[in-house]
Amino acid sequence: MAVLFDEKNNIFFLITENSEYQMKIDEYGILLHSYYGAPVGRTDMSYLIRNVDRGFSGNSYECREKREISSDTQPLEYGCFGAGDYRVSALETVLANGSRTADLRYKSHNIRHGRKELTGLPYVRDMGDEADSLEIILEDEVARLEVSLIYNVFAEKDVITRSAKISNISQDEIRLMKVASACIDLQHKDMDFIHFHGRHAMERRPERARVAHGIYKVGSKRGMSSHHENPFVILCGHDANERSGECYGFMLMYSGNHAEEIETDQTGSIRVVMGIGSEGFEWRLLSGESFETPEAIMAFTDKGLNELSFLYHRIIRENVCPARFKDMKRPVLINNWEGTYFDFDEESIRSIADTAHEAGCEMLVLDDGWFGVRNDDNTGLGDWFVNKDKLPGGLSAITEHVNSLDMRFGLWFEPEMISEDSKLYREHPDWTLSDPDRKPVMARNQLVLDMSRKDVVDYLYESISGILDSADISYIKWDFNRSLANVYSNATSSDEQGEIAHRFVLGTYELLSRLSTAYPDVMIEGCSGGGGRFDAGMLFYCPQIWCSDNTDAINRLKIQKGTSYGYPVCTMGSHVSASPNHQTGRETPLLTRAIVAMHGSFGYELDPRKLTAKEREEIKEQIGTFNKYYELIQKGRYFRLTDESDEDYFVAWETVAEDGSEALLSLVVTDVRANPEIPCVRLNGLDGDGRYVADGVLSSALEIPADKDEDADSFEGERVYSGYALMNGGYAFDPLYGVYPAVQVHFKRI
Ligand code: GLA
Repeated sequence: MAVLFDEKNNIFFLITENSEYQMKIDEYGILLHSYYGAPVGRTDMSYLIRNVDRGFSGNSYECREKREISSDTQPLEYGCFGAGDYRVSALETVLANGSRTADLRYKSHNIRHGRKELTGLPYVRDMGDEADSLEIILEDEVARLEVSLIYNVFAEKDVITRSAKISNISQDEIRLMKVASACIDLQHKDMDFIHFHGRHAMERRPERARVAHGIYKVGSKRGMSSHHENPFVILCGHDANERSGECYGFMLMYSGNHAEEIETDQTGSIRVVMGIGSEGFEWRLLSGESFETPEAIMAFTDKGLNELSFLYHRIIRENVCPARFKDMKRPVLINNWEGTYFDFDEESIRSIADTAHEAGCEMLVLDDGWFGVRNDDNTGLGDWFVNKDKLPGGLSAITEHVNSLDMRFGLWFEPEMISEDSKLYREHPDWTLSDPDRKPVMARNQLVLDMSRKDVVDYLYESISGILDSADISYIKWDFNRSLANVYSNATSSDEQGEIAHRFVLGTYELLSRLSTAYPDVMIEGCSGGGGRFDAGMLFYCPQIWCSDNTDAINRLKIQKGTSYGYPVCTMGSHVSASPNHQTGRETPLLTRAIVAMHGSFGYELDPRKLTAKEREEIKEQIGTFNKYYELIQKGRYFRLTDESDEDYFVAWETVAEDGSEALLSLVVTDVRANPEIPCVRLNGLDGDGRYVADGVLSSALEIPADKDEDADSFEGERVYSGYALMNGGYAFDPLYGVYPAVQVHFKRI
């Protein structure tokens, strides 16, 4: 059992292979957070809590004579607003009499084997005897409010999840203004904070700053997890790097508004609060009702950032993504978006399929523009019926053709959206999120459907399933192309409008869940203008997400690397597109683009008919390489080998088979230099005593001009390397000439 309770000393222990988490109920029933970090052999760590009488830090009435006991300074497991804890709060309530105080005391707990599902929310799945859970019930006896803190411990995976359930056991209404999923006070720590900021087409850029006094808050108010701040943050020691050091990860499994707040208090203790964003949030909890928060996924390691990423990669791949797709070979796809945009018809799609098939693609994805009257992005969203002007034979004519090539077929939808110029809007203008007395905020000239409404979710279910039933469709690209604004439901009373943003997310999850249940073999790829909803909540339904609308290989290095801190390679939709790139105008070699895109859910997003015969041959080889290394790339252990400071010249990464038998090293030069440095990288994760040879080298570097390099060593001979040599000494590349050359080296243990 990974959850233990020491009754004598009132301590809870959550034990994983390489971490330990402790809480203690003090003599006043307050639940203290006493430790999270490397294992300490179940020593009562509350000795680290040094209570000191500090001015202006008040005391609960029952300990008014013990002035050193203050909720302002003690490490608390779930800090609440109003009763003398002045730090960022996890819970803010308004009682029927207007009181805003919440004050919780321990009431009871239960420990069980296995975990409970959350209602209507994604969660980390127990794939069989993996989790032990703890529920601690706290109560505010005055408000008659119960707060259950729920922990699931995945001991072998070094992961602990947290969520909270708030129950109104009073006779009156209680309003929730803020309800966090996790709150944790880390004492005696000096740490850095890493978050993943960005913008459309430049998502998840890591930014690291020293945690200082005050509050550092990131999050999203866009109704979606957003391109701008991912719901994943890391706290790590100042000295932590990819290979060593203490790191804590906090990831919210949620696709809507979120907030991550980090505060250093007057004692130097660091509080982390993570959950649904509270701005605009207000939830009416009637007598007898409960509210469940999304789940936060926490992980700790003292072995550096790569190890922290590995813990997230494993839990997401094995316990978050739908199990059905875990081991399924994902098809290499051709997507027509950057190839044709809206300008296609049945004939052109057929011939794209033909050409892509010859080059080895395994699935054709028909992107935006196949439905309603949609010839640009101003019209038609919501009208999920085939545009017979473009596709006179309907979808079945295309799918039959695609299937005859032994390819699968995928289709684009943007379910939560509606165009003003659509049949759906003309029939149901009230189905949009919109403020009745204002003109709505437009974005991409579209509006957002009110997913809090059952009739809207039912309409979408019916129309999407109608399409899925009409042809052989094995994949959906589920897009979401604007942020929410005017979050107002025309079907809800004025005092429940603060619930709509969350109910919107619940509606989306319900639709995803109904469709995945009815069509279990249809794989859904998430998307939101690229990676605007790249979060563990979406991954619960969609095993992969289009990583970014930016397909420029050099920019993608940063985007995919940033994404890799929290999410595994198999979740990142990643395609080879045309050169010059449509987003940046940059030209890169075809092989460089492929080496970058292979570290993801691989595919092509271009018009293959515009490629030369030689390029099409090259693509065939690339797909062959990808399929050859598929298991290694998708399931191997991924390591970032370069840090930001190296990135002005090259970026390198590596995937190693779990048993150390093979590894794939990739490097891309990101600058053009005369007389260049020799890139040399130290590998990671190999079998130290093992002997390795490089048995496959792909390179898009240009030949070194003979007159400059007569005496240069050949790139790779018959050398045999020990794992230690590659990990401690490193692997030195030849000087890499050309513009954005990339090299991929496969090592095999002999
Ligand atoms: C979004 C997606 C793109 C493409 C377009 C279609 O931007 O991220 O991949 O599907 O929508 O409109």
